[in-house]
Amino acid sequence: MSVYLNGKFMPIEEAYVPVLDRGFIFGDGVYEVIPVYSRQAFRLAEHLKRLQASLDGIRLPNPHTAAECTKLINELIERNAGDDQYLYLHITRGVARRDHAFPQPAVAPTVFMMSSPLSTPASALLASGVSAVTATDNRWLRCDIKAISLLPNVMLRQLAVDAGCAETILIRDDQFMTEGAASNIFVVKNGSLLAPPKDNLMLPGITYDVVLELAAANQIPFQVRRIARQEIFTADELLLTSSTKEVLPITSVDGKAVGNGKPGPMFARLNSLYQNFKRDVMRQP
Ligand code: PDD
Repeated sequence: MSVYLNGKFMPIEEAYVPVLDRGFIFGDGVYEVIPVYSRQAFRLAEHLKRLQASLDGIRLPNPHTAAECTKLINELIERNAGDDQYLYLHITRGVARRDHAFPQPAVAPTVFMMSSPLSTPASALLASGVSAVTATDNRWLRCDIKAISLLPNVMLRQLAVDAGCAETILIRDDQFMTEGAASNIFVVKNGSLLAPPKDNLMLPGITYDVVLELAAANQIPFQVRRIARQEIFTADELLLTSSTKEVLPITSVDGKAVGNGKPGPMFARLNSLYQNFKRDVMRQP
């Protein structure tokens, strides 16, 4: 497996960063996860735009232009096997003596990229749906930044694993749903798709945007608004989206069936639109 680190491509076994990297010491950095289909990065411009927003959010100048990033990403795809890949991009504030404040003068950021095989959910999982638990969203107030400091997300996601479930649905202030520990969550009620607003309390998902665009283009009723905690438990369907999970039905939450406990018609419709969209966008010329 070939990875990119600070200007060079190399086998992953040779990729090392110094222990004083601020990513290691403080979790001081941001990242992106980009799916690759048929050797083409999906929604690359949107991912690079979100990366820029995350860098702006932590006041770290982008070491690369979008054109440079695109070139590096294409080379990474080229150097790795598999038509479908999952790219991980990671930029930290670099290596410096340990001090919470930004290094003065600034040091070179650390830039790391790797590719792994993309394994989208198996058809059995799409047919059965997955289970979720709910938990209090105890993260910070800048969840719109795709920060590498993911300890709260790690702890929250483990609650799902401990309960034999796939995801943890997060509730802010005991009142409203934000997202999953590593995904966005949609509620379906009376034929309408409900999505939480893209504010500082959730990551603006690239898959989330695709799903809402598909809904708009296909006359599927949808509303973007705060979703009250109890709406999770009275939902007809719950859907989870992310770059690696695509669109997945959640069929049980906190041990109770969602709707009739089976993936519903909104899931079937959106998943088929998503798969078609992916095929159309990514079709080899
Ligand atoms: N996570 N919300 C959170 C907290 C996430 O970590 C993710 C994705 C999403 C969905 O965003 P997108 O559709 O752009 O993938 C929402 C990635 C996959 C990860 O950390 O591995």
